[in-house]
Amino acid sequence: MKKVAVFTSGGDAPGMNACIRAVVRTAIHYGYEAVGIRRGYEGMIDGDFVELKQFGVSNIIQLGGTILQSARSERFRTVEGRQEAYRQLIAADIDGVVAIGGDGTFTGANIFLKEFPEIRFIGIPGTIDNDLFGTDYTIGYDTAINTAMNAIDNIKDTANAHNRLFFVEVMGRDAGFIALRSGIATGAEAVLVPESKKDTNHLFSILEKNLTQNKMSNIVVVAEGDEAGGAFKMAEKVREKFNNQFDIRVTILGHVQRGGRPTCMERVLASRLGMESVRALMDGKTGLMVGEVDKKIVFTPFEKAIKHHEDLNSLLLDMVEILS
Ligand code: F6P
Repeated sequence: MKKVAVFTSGGDAPGMNACIRAVVRTAIHYGYEAVGIRRGYEGMIDGDFVELKQFGVSNIIQLGGTILQSARSERFRTVEGRQEAYRQLIAADIDGVVAIGGDGTFTGANIFLKEFPEIRFIGIPGTIDNDLFGTDYTIGYDTAINTAMNAIDNIKDTANAHNRLFFVEVMGRDAGFIALRSGIATGAEAVLVPESKKDTNHLFSILEKNLTQNKMSNIVVVAEGDEAGGAFKMAEKVREKFNNQFDIRVTILGHVQRGGRPTCMERVLASRLGMESVRALMDGKTGLMVGEVDKKIVFTPFEKAIKHHEDLNSLLLDMVEILS
């Protein structure tokens, strides 16, 4: 291997900078040059490369966002785009690539590798959604659930003060991991996730019970991808069903969950996966995502990482109900 390049792609996630730092410093430690690719696959196609030195990644471990910026690239979906990306990598002498991102990123890498297998690619799971198979936690998830938890704690104060029912929508286009953990951690009365299809009637029965006990202050955490259509839609259904007996408010947390200083867990995970990604490239590995399962480093083929989301732990869903 001649040079190691690293890029961030798709939705940014806290901890990506810690990961970039680890990739760069590990590569340099083992005697390789390190290159940053700006703006994900877009920058790869444009040859937007920057050499990263040991101290060029100082003071970024604590920063949210990504110093390399991120993008979702339409051009990389085309053969011409991928050919140009390959041409740029070869021209810059790059033959080992570390991709930090989610399923879109690995889908792109997988297609690229079939066309240009001489470039080695290792993926690192970086998304707040935690929706990749082959790792217990993705980079960004721990920070995002703590951000959501703190916000919901604040909402709980005002919900109690006014005896209100709040629907709080958290991120998770296809997965309910953020909703589930932040819901448990805040003692939410209910959590609505795309993985469970019995949500509406089940929620009605929980609220019915609470109403008969005169418990009017309630928190319902809704994953944005929930099949019922999100927090506003669900609030409307409840309003109708209960004939306005609940004083309802809706809060959409949105992109506030994507930014901020990464937690300690996040920085350590990102550093470990960053280091292992370079070692994997040195071992000749390619087409694999590096993850951590039961505290051990595990490699999963891209195809499997993107197609098999880890199931939501149904015991945790039960927990919401038993403990609320
Ligand atoms: O990063 C993943 C994610 O947060 C999803 O949960 C969400 O639907 C999506 O990104 C939104 O991203 P964007 O606004 O960048 O399209």
